[in-house]
Amino acid sequence: FAVVDVIRAKRDGGELSDEQIGWVVDAYTRGVVAEEQMAALAMAIFLRGMTAREIATWTGAMIDSGSRLSLAVDRPTVDKHSTGGVGDKITLPLAPLVATCGAAVPQLSGRGLGHTGGTLDKLESVPGWRAALSTEEITRQLGEVGAVVCAATEGLAPADRKLYALRDVTGTVESIPLIASSIMSKKIAEGAAGLVLDVKCGSGAFMKTPEQARELARTLVEIGSAHGVATTALLTDMSVPLGRAVGNAVEVAESVEVLKGGGPSDVVELTVALAREMLALAGIDADPAAVLASGEAYETWCRMITAQGGDPEAALPKPKHVHVVPAERTGVLARLDAYAVGVAAWRLGAGRARREDPVQHAAGVLLHAKPGEQVTAGEPLLELHTDAPEVVTSALQALEGAVEVADGPVETRPLVLETVR
Ligand code: URA
Repeated sequence: FAVVDVIRAKRDGGELSDEQIGWVVDAYTRGVVAEEQMAALAMAIFLRGMTAREIATWTGAMIDSGSRLSLAVDRPTVDKHSTGGVGDKITLPLAPLVATCGAAVPQLSGRGLGHTGGTLDKLESVPGWRAALSTEEITRQLGEVGAVVCAATEGLAPADRKLYALRDVTGTVESIPLIASSIMSKKIAEGAAGLVLDVKCGSGAFMKTPEQARELARTLVEIGSAHGVATTALLTDMSVPLGRAVGNAVEVAESVEVLKGGGPSDVVELTVALAREMLALAGIDADPAAVLASGEAYETWCRMITAQGGDPEAALPKPKHVHVVPAERTGVLARLDAYAVGVAAWRLGAGRARREDPVQHAAGVLLHAKPGEQVTAGEPLLELHTDAPEVVTSALQALEGAVEVADGPVETRPLVLETVR
């Protein structure tokens, strides 16, 4: 093939053949197709889109650019992926919960970039905990504990790693075919038999509207079916942060509360809703709400953390500086914008601006009220945590206009909006 012909075909709105797709993804991974050529093709895909067949083939080619994990465990394997949000710590209680119910959960996770946090960054606030595991360690821990949360191994979908970095600098991230194939190539290469997707929608998410989120969810589910992975997607609200803690150590602490049978009701609701879908795909008949309330999943959490070198009973890092933001007036909290809180937590040091930057374990935001709850003028509404007090001003700027207090009762949105199968 001549790569220019492939670029021209997509540029002019044509459909690429399976052979063209297989060739171009492989040649790009090997460095035969140049970065500028793939950049042009990515832009053509961004503008022209891809058919369901092209997307499934593209995903397959990205999987084949690396190796698949083969998970030799004697329990059904099932995994979850979230498209990313603010205060989204659900993996932390969910993986041990679903493992306690009898499944094996290989949760290969990422780090935060921009206003959304990363599961690995959160867990690294647990003293001693280690994100990097070998394939043998992953398999052993899956068999012994049932849950693993760790960094993706190097060999998993290398084409995606290269292409994602290119999309990041060429304005081609926000394309549903490219997002969906990127997510699914990594998840399918992980080798789980079932996959539940939490597709976020709202200010704190990639997809701002339910229409966009629904299209992404459908595309993800179609790719799963085309590759023989039982896939379900939930569309969930991300206009308000999840729970009452946004950051790293503070999210671990909140997850532990949930695992011990307490914690904020929205975190419990979403954890249980995702667990139900995962258990249904795994063919396991268990009641995750009852298991969570019993505190049994906390024991699995302790074993999971210990297996990766962490001390589940150790004190979590505390911030050097806490700045309290009071409510300006008395009434009912009507709005607390997820994106603004995410940006504030990021500026406080919970997130990173560049991939290689470190994060502060103790930085973040605590919410003293959620929409629908009563607030009183002068009483604490938010707590800003950081080790660097000089960034508080810029975090406060991010929060300008993010809070609305109403006089009367307010309508809050349901958390789980739709299920796509
Ligand atoms: N997450 C991914 O893994 N890939 C994308 O393209 C977007 C979000």
